[in-house]
Amino acid sequence: MRLDRYLSHVTDLTRAQAQRSIRSGAVIVDGVTTTDPARHLTPSNAVVHKGERLSWPQPRYFMLHKPSGYVCTARDARHRSAVDLLDEPRKRDLHCVGRLDLDTTGLVLITDDGEWSHGITAPRRAVEKVYRVTLADILTKEAAQVLCSGVQLRGEPQPCRPAKLEACGQTEWRVTLTEGKYHEVKRLFAAVGNHVLSLHRERIGAVQLDSGLDAGGYRPLAAHEVECLRAKS
Ligand code: URA
Repeated sequence: MRLDRYLSHVTDLTRAQAQRSIRSGAVIVDGVTTTDPARHLTPSNAVVHKGERLSWPQPRYFMLHKPSGYVCTARDARHRSAVDLLDEPRKRDLHCVGRLDLDTTGLVLITDDGEWSHGITAPRRAVEKVYRVTLADILTKEAAQVLCSGVQLRGEPQPCRPAKLEACGQTEWRVTLTEGKYHEVKRLFAAVGNHVLSLHRERIGAVQLDSGLDAGGYRPLAAHEVECLRAKS
């Protein structure tokens, strides 16, 4: 990793500020003052910045109970970003793993490890996503059968993979999907003439939303949660 990238990664400095700081002579690598921002570093190098010994950056992994009203992309002029709910340094390095709609609540994973998140969202891995859905109308047996056999959505090249459905009440269902198409749950129920009133994600793979987290709350993932979602090469 380049020295300027490293410095901006492990401190609050932007890349430009890190470059200025390096050029000013504030960085010592393995006991030698280094003014080249492009200097290559490995985890074995000892880096001191303004007298403080820095460590090699560790990837970060969190689960968030997303409330309604937040987007899973970067914040824009109209909407706040789910990442902004975290009280963590260097939030600019963090991203949501996949997307929930503005009005969808529930489990969102947040990380700065792009390879890990790609391994979860890659279609071929077919990681399960489990949602609790409230519908406007009672779902007929025929409609449920259509959803369980794989619906062809308009604009999609192939039919959706079959959904798993579990009735939780007259208009309450638990839905398990193994792909992450845009607005997939809402479009599936619309395709059988129904309408989703509310949508809440409960689980991704083996990782369940922590029942101790209120909407807006978050916590670091445990090591076993990180590892069980990691793609095995
Ligand atoms: N499907 C949807 O329609 N919306 C979501 O937020 C997630 C899955």
